Amino acid sequence: MSIQYCEKCMSFFLHTPNTTYVIGIVNGKYLGHIYYGKKIQNQNLRHLMGVKADPSADNINPGDTGIFYDNFPFEYNFRGIGDFRECALDVHTMQGHHGALCEYRSHRIFKGKPTLKSLPATFGSVAECETLEIELFDPVISLTLTLSYTVFADNDAICRHVRVRNSGSEPVYLDRVLSAHLYLPENAYDVITLHGSWGRERGICRRPVSYGISRAYSSRGVSSHQAQPFIAVMSPNTDQASGEVYAMNLVYSGNFIAQTDGLVNDDVILQIGINPDDFCWKLEPGEYFTAPEAVMVYSAQGLGGMTRTFHDLYRKHLIRGKYKDCKRPVLLNNWEATYFDFNTEKLLDIARSASQRGIEMLVMDDGWFGNRFDDHRALGDWVVNEEKLPGGLPYLVSEVNKLGMKFGIWFEPEMVCPDSDLFRAHPDWAIQVPNRTNTTLRWQYVLDITRPEVLEYVWNRLYSVLSSANIEYVKWDMNRALTNIGSQDLPADRIGEFYHRYTLAVYELQGRLTSEFTELLLENCSSGGGRFDPGMLYYSPQIWCSDDTDAIERLKIQEGTALFYPLSSIGAHVSVCPNHLTGRSVPFETRGHIAMLGTFGYELDITKLSEEDLEMIPKQVEMYHESNDLVRGGDYYRLASYAENHFVDAYMVVSKDKSRALLTMVAVTYRINHRAFLLRLQGLDPIANYYIPAMDSHFTGDALMNAGIFIPSPWAGGDYRSFVWKIERED
Ligand code: GLA
Repeated sequence: MSIQYCEKCMSFFLHTPNTTYVIGIVNGKYLGHIYYGKKIQNQNLRHLMGVKADPSADNINPGDTGIFYDNFPFEYNFRGIGDFRECALDVHTMQGHHGALCEYRSHRIFKGKPTLKSLPATFGSVAECETLEIELFDPVISLTLTLSYTVFADNDAICRHVRVRNSGSEPVYLDRVLSAHLYLPENAYDVITLHGSWGRERGICRRPVSYGISRAYSSRGVSSHQAQPFIAVMSPNTDQASGEVYAMNLVYSGNFIAQTDGLVNDDVILQIGINPDDFCWKLEPGEYFTAPEAVMVYSAQGLGGMTRTFHDLYRKHLIRGKYKDCKRPVLLNNWEATYFDFNTEKLLDIARSASQRGIEMLVMDDGWFGNRFDDHRALGDWVVNEEKLPGGLPYLVSEVNKLGMKFGIWFEPEMVCPDSDLFRAHPDWAIQVPNRTNTTLRWQYVLDITRPEVLEYVWNRLYSVLSSANIEYVKWDMNRALTNIGSQDLPADRIGEFYHRYTLAVYELQGRLTSEFTELLLENCSSGGGRFDPGMLYYSPQIWCSDDTDAIERLKIQEGTALFYPLSSIGAHVSVCPNHLTGRSVPFETRGHIAMLGTFGYELDITKLSEEDLEMIPKQVEMYHESNDLVRGGDYYRLASYAENHFVDAYMVVSKDKSRALLTMVAVTYRINHRAFLLRLQGLDPIANYYIPAMDSHFTGDALMNAGIFIPSPWAGGDYRSFVWKIERED
């Protein structure tokens, strides 16, 4: 890891362990992108910007500046001056004039990484990372732009963010401040974005980059089920193990765009940042705005290389708290077991049976408060319903604790139902536009937590419930999109700040929660995986992945999620069959195998299980304890994708020292007359000897990876069969 500035060629060189990123200064003021890719040595590469190699040479014809502005590969580009490509910064003045041209002014290189004000971000010590800040300035509107880049000693990601300061004497309005803009040279590229819906999150969508804009976005106020704040472009032949990939992920939980702009000269611009639609931030003199952090990854080892870089970065430099590096308790959540129909006795029956089988925590989901007998009412009334839970939380929790189990609880703090005491007392606390009938979604409104009194109410309720008993886990839910954006507090020219202010308020609440209750395990959730993003991972080491708990559906959902989020963050439970959403029945063992490569837990009424299924639980729990360090800390390799081949899914995790591995394979559909499946493993040490207990056989790593293993169909005669095999090095 190192960052250097070369005075002679007026270029910055950012080196990660295996990659290099180069930026140049042209005409003493224009910042241009030179190179991003495999590690190279420092040298004069200015010709790659389409300019003269001599940094003192003039490259711009003052009589015809537009040609330069519209062709130069700006490191960060501006609307309004003649650059007609998708811009990174759009700003207008009090007079309504758009336009900026920020010119290089200074830079500094230092050890460590500063935090981002009020925003989640990756972190690292002074020994672990180094940062470059380049300051640019627009003298006409006195706008200071700081571009910040951090490289890490142990990771190939480059984390960047942008800060804009109004150094003038009049307000300016930011219409767009993207977090990253990357200019890629002429090439054929494929692009991957992820899409889905409730119950079908994060499907991988790959297609060729074409001319014009291709955009994944959210305008729902959350990162959403529909898209991910992620984009990757790659050489068209890229697969899991080879090919060049450029990826970006935004550390943000609100509205975003992630897009390519395919230019007519066949260059491609890759961008990520806050969604400029519905965004306009007023910057008073002296104020500054910080855009969320973007994580950039270049991989020369295909998608698999990209995946492992993201996993390592997030596990080491984003996820925090007590559970960052340790095993989470095996939990049982009562949602699919009881829905709203539960009371203390029912929960204790479940807990008793669960504790006998090694389950370590009971999580009480929705329905414990106010008049919440269904999802039509009571959100906001965070007072225990003593009809259901006589003796309240202190009694229930202590009974659960007596069984040797921890206790966790569900919350949806950002919401209020029209039918609730809270709404009757404070109808103005819901986000709304005056005179327009407010839109209900799941019979609820969203609280305007950008208002201090509303935020304080929410915080006080959370605090008081969590301090009332020994609660060791919270599932923080968020079950609807934001609509009808109006505000009691913001003037008309600041309404465009609302969505971002809302996201900041969520961060404020979760920041308070995690610093006040340091022992708490927080799991984020949003109707399943509607807010599964790096911003949330900064507060919670795990996120509920999807309300679709059907193990076979989960193969696709978890594959998409694991493309850049670590397995340790993927909330995955064994639920009952036929599955409540899909009606599909999958063997209990397979359901366990598929949940095992996530956080692992149960979401079913254990008192109603068959003896056969019940007997399997202690074995699954044992397997979890045995393998979880590998799942949490190992390298993930995808071997086969059911989403692609409609037949079989296979993946493995390999310990960092390559001494242990876990291979999961799911034969989704039974194939008549199919003798066996040839599986080539990945990630092992080619010259080491390995033992596979399930085969009682010994192989070298190179044989396992090149010749593969010929797995006889162990599932003969049925769909949805699976196994998890151990692989052990013998030295
Ligand atoms: C959302 C969550 C579920 C469950 C319900 C409760 O849909 O994703 O897991 O908590 O809310 O209402």
